[in-house]
Amino acid sequence: MPPPTTSEKGPEPSLPQATFCFHCIGCGSASQAAAQDFRCPQCNNLLEITDPSWKSATLPAATLKSVWRDRRSSNATLDLSGVWRFRELLPAPASEQHVVTLREGNTPLYELPQSSRVTGVRRLYAKHQGMNPTGSFKDAGMTVASTFARQAGYRWVACASTGNTSASMAAYAARGGMRSLVLVPKGKISWSKLSQALDYGALTCQLRTDFDGCLRLLLELVRRAPVYQLNSINPFRIEGQKTLALELLEQLDWQPPDHIIVPGGNLGNSSAIGKALLEMLDLGLIPRLPKLSVIQAEGANALVRTLREAGGKRLVSVQAETRATAIRIGNPASWEKAVKVLQATDGACEQVSELEIAEAKAEIGTEGIGCEPASAVTLAGLKKLLREGFVKPEETVVLILTGNLLKDPEYTIEFHRGGLFQGAAQEQQSAKLNQFRHPPVVLDATLDAVIKTLEQAEKSDPTH
Ligand code: F0G
Repeated sequence: MPPPTTSEKGPEPSLPQATFCFHCIGCGSASQAAAQDFRCPQCNNLLEITDPSWKSATLPAATLKSVWRDRRSSNATLDLSGVWRFRELLPAPASEQHVVTLREGNTPLYELPQSSRVTGVRRLYAKHQGMNPTGSFKDAGMTVASTFARQAGYRWVACASTGNTSASMAAYAARGGMRSLVLVPKGKISWSKLSQALDYGALTCQLRTDFDGCLRLLLELVRRAPVYQLNSINPFRIEGQKTLALELLEQLDWQPPDHIIVPGGNLGNSSAIGKALLEMLDLGLIPRLPKLSVIQAEGANALVRTLREAGGKRLVSVQAETRATAIRIGNPASWEKAVKVLQATDGACEQVSELEIAEAKAEIGTEGIGCEPASAVTLAGLKKLLREGFVKPEETVVLILTGNLLKDPEYTIEFHRGGLFQGAAQEQQSAKLNQFRHPPVVLDATLDAVIKTLEQAEKSDPTH
């Protein structure tokens, strides 16, 4: 086991004093405790975590940057986590012993040369959150929220999920010695994500409803049973997910990109990234804000419609349908937080079609990194924002890839075998995606057959 948190320069306070409070995003009231549904008892709006003393108590920006950089060479448990490494900007648990960590964060920032060529954006990067321990961005939030669940002494944690939250929650619950209850829509999440929850020992319920139905039921459950809910309504999740943006800016030597583009589902992640950007500006860690843009699938476009049809003032829910099952959400819980951060950073909100998602996913595959369909909406959205003139080719753009390629193998295999759009309205149009398809070839086990296939492949695409 690594030694306890000390640096070569001598012991440093391993965790800052816990001084945070819950702050309602609607009426602004603040309190020291939150109910299990994490809603304001006065106006029922969502809560966020703030720390009234943090500006005076926090170290100067230059010191913070150097403390965080130094921790990258430390083997102390908290420092090995790409989330707890930034603990000055997180709510502090009472003791380091409560921290549940799988060394989350520390995800790579990749250049995207192929997509640069396709889009004309020379400085184009992907922050790949699919490289987290359970394969999605959820781990960054889950390490913080599961830590507070354990500290509060909960035996059960629970979530509704399109798959990734449940995989992550089940893993962190197992690590933290807690039991987990998963509510997922039957037949609407990928087997790969479901298999993770099973292996990590969750009690997994496949409900005959959609994600929105699962979440509704969970919120009723937490009022009746002593389970701790770990959906992104839980503001501790948002705090952990903020570190994605801190780590990204550190990787860019604190030079803000012009644009950050993120997929939108339940809208916790966009809210978290936006909160981090505003806090970084406030603390002088960055000189200006990047524009944060949210991309949704056309069939699950509640935020797009909320902004276009209701000016961001009330939620326009939809009956969600998309093959990008991770973001098949029609009634996003954190829509108001997302509207606020879009407005604060001057970001855009767009929607992309199923064909555009499939094409973008195939293009990210050619980069040698891949991602799950929900993550590919970012590249598809970038192309749209370029056409609209919102993003300029000479600007710096970062796409947030939220999930690993291996999260949804059914989608990828169906795509390459040509079955993804079979019988669908887009079947004819989908022929243009044939250039990206690499179906497996079944051959007799002879050298001749393999060599002939190799020669054919070379002839059909000599420039590849
Ligand atoms: N990308 C992936 C891969 C996701 O799993 C999700 C959400 C999102 C994007 C959207 O993020 O909800 O913060 O706007 N997945 C949740 C789940 C809902 O249950 O796994 P969001």
